[in-house]
Amino acid sequence: MKIGILGTGMVGAALGSKLASLGHSVMMGSRTPGNAKALEWTDKTGSNASAGTFSDAAFYGEIIFLCVNGAAALEAVKIAGKENLRNKTVVDVTNPLDFSKGMPPTLIPDLTNTNSLGEEIQKALPESKIVKSLNTVNCAVMTEPSRLSEETEIYLCGNDTESKNKVREILESFGWKRITDLGGIAASRGTEMMMPFWLSLWGSLKTGIFNLKIVKEKSI
Ligand SMILES: NC(=O)c1ccc[n+]([C@@H]2O[C@H](COP(=O)([O-])OP(=O)(O)OC[C@H]3O[C@@H](n4cnc5c(N)ncnc54)[C@H](OP(=O)(O)O)[C@@H]3O)[C@@H](O)[C@H]2O)c1
Repeated sequence: MKIGILGTGMVGAALGSKLASLGHSVMMGSRTPGNAKALEWTDKTGSNASAGTFSDAAFYGEIIFLCVNGAAALEAVKIAGKENLRNKTVVDVTNPLDFSKGMPPTLIPDLTNTNSLGEEIQKALPESKIVKSLNTVNCAVMTEPSRLSEETEIYLCGNDTESKNKVREILESFGWKRITDLGGIAASRGTEMMMPFWLSLWGSLKTGIFNLKIVKEKSI
């Protein structure tokens, strides 16, 4: 499949490399053509990888992964172009974090509690199908859940069932076995607001390579 990755950070690189290794053709997009990180990634990744602008990658992909700085995500989708993303599944991996006052980052108030970045991206792209997923784990875990000592949960949510099924297949191809559908895109609120808790765990555990496991009542 042709996949567009919007974002040249560690998440875009990890997802792009994994998808290319699974045989997909992947274009990584950035704000400017010839972005050094994107070119470094294509050199490392090989013939399934290419690079362009946000709008090139949005046009190219049958499925798009949005992996940009959360505070700039709405700006990035605007640059990528509504028309290039029309009728496409957009997997939103972003978190609404504000790093402007240093570490640890805080949640952006307008994008929490009664709102979320997932919902705002869906509003900005009404003709696209946003599926929020993978934002609750470190990028090393996103693409290699087998690095963890047990099976753990990954979540998805979105308003379009067919798109969620497509994303579920991709998650399964990464090795995810416990995939929990949380419902419509408004469920992004909960997964995005896990971030302060995730950051505290990261500080305590001294590693980002972990995840939470859901355990239900014993069946009698
Ligand atoms: N790091 C993780 O393990 C992890 C885990 C879960 C979720 N996430 C989320 O995944 C997203 C990506 O994280 P990351 O660490 O890989 O990358 P990042 O540093 O948060 O974002 C890099 C991308 O953001 C774009 N960007 C920055 N400022 C922009 C602006 N003003 N307008 C438009 N685009 C702009 C950059 O564009 P250029 O390419 O043009 O520079 C670049 O492609 C974030 O939302 C993060 O919260 C990260």
